[in-house]
Amino acid sequence: MTRSEMNGKRNSSKEEGAIFMGSVTVDQLNKEFSGVKALNNVNLEIKEGEFFALLGPSGCGKTTTMRCIAGFEEPTSGVIRIGEEKVNHIPPNKRNCGMVFQSYALFPHMNVFENVAYSLNIKQLNEKNVLAKMGVYARLLNRRLGRMPKEMERKVMEILEYMELEPYADRLTSELSGGQQQRVALGRALVMEPAVLLMDEPLSNLDQKLRHSMRNTIRRIQQDLGITTIFVTHDQEEAMSMADRVAVMNNGEVKQIGRPTDLYSHPSSPFIANFVGTSNMLNVQSIERVGAYSIIKGEGFALKTNHQSKEKGTVIIRPESIQIHHADTEMNPELMNILEGEILISTYLGSIVRYEVKAAGHTLIVDATYASGESILKPGTKVKLAIEPERVLVI
Ligand SMILES: Nc1ncnc2c1ncn2[C@@H]1O[C@H](COP(=O)(O)OP(=O)(O)OP(=O)(O)O)[C@@H](O)[C@H]1O
Ligand SMILES: [Mg+2]
Repeated sequence: MTRSEMNGKRNSSKEEGAIFMGSVTVDQLNKEFSGVKALNNVNLEIKEGEFFALLGPSGCGKTTTMRCIAGFEEPTSGVIRIGEEKVNHIPPNKRNCGMVFQSYALFPHMNVFENVAYSLNIKQLNEKNVLAKMGVYARLLNRRLGRMPKEMERKVMEILEYMELEPYADRLTSELSGGQQQRVALGRALVMEPAVLLMDEPLSNLDQKLRHSMRNTIRRIQQDLGITTIFVTHDQEEAMSMADRVAVMNNGEVKQIGRPTDLYSHPSSPFIANFVGTSNMLNVQSIERVGAYSIIKGEGFALKTNHQSKEKGTVIIRPESIQIHHADTEMNPELMNILEGEILISTYLGSIVRYEVKAAGHTLIVDATYASGESILKPGTKVKLAIEPERVLVI
């Protein structure tokens, strides 16, 4: 079965009433662990079919938020909805959420087929209110004996095919590479046709190259199936490159929600500007309106911006917003902010060169695109930095 056939099947099963998509609403969610406030008034509205990332430093509450949505953690207060349904009192196995963990949590003594079949068995047993765990193993054993329900076997094989894992069906998961194990974990979550896919740091155990290719795989599958996905990560590049929207969390609170491009170009605080990409940050001492511009003054600098600015704050300038020129280049100071500087460090990074430049008493980071054959400016070179007023933000 091809991906598009799979997608077609999802759509048709959706029409038949199977829930394969769901919005998620988190309303004033609070969670305390023995006096420690892990979540403080978290509000999220995740649209049906959206790829939504929870991003933030270690301990900020990402996993706790996700575990509350999945039902593994009971909120101290607040309401969680999947679709229209309030799910606070619904147990995890009835919430129709598929979960993928950082550790994969696969059964090493089972082969790939059995790992994927396991969650389907659990789901079906739950649906039939069969509690005896023995029953699960009996069914798995039955499959080995050729007596697993044909429908179930077909479903598992479809997922394995879809995840390009068919050749490994009979292999123990302990005999797979990290990327293959991650695909099994994803297959195991998807086979249940969940309304929502929850992924907690699913790529952090993979090496960098594999992480990049798995990003693409996950994103493609998510778009292909149109499944609402919440993806937890502390890696800003991962969140920004994969998600439709990102919620940045810190200290148990959601600090800003937006599309990656909005977070990058309009961070609401220095914390966001620093967490989402690299920023030059300078303290503001005064701001004065002069004609079409505001003149921002701080220690050793005066910069004009054409953005409306508040009284005080922090100047944010992204490294790629600073142009670097030779010291003798003629430039019009009416149109640009011009600073004289000296290169401290040059680092060649392939498509760009990152310079650290001493200018106006500060060390500024400047990213210059690099075309092959160009020479790289050496430390000690005198330069002129030019910044458009449009690129100077105060937050
Ligand atoms: N079961 C628990 N008992 C007590 N405190 C907990 C428990 N689970 C989480 N916490 C605390 O709640 C806060 C949020 O934890 P959480 O696991 O949600 O963070 P996180 O953002 O997922 O971090 P990481 O990126 O390190 O996984 C932390 O201060 C953590 O120590
Ligand atoms: Mg976590």
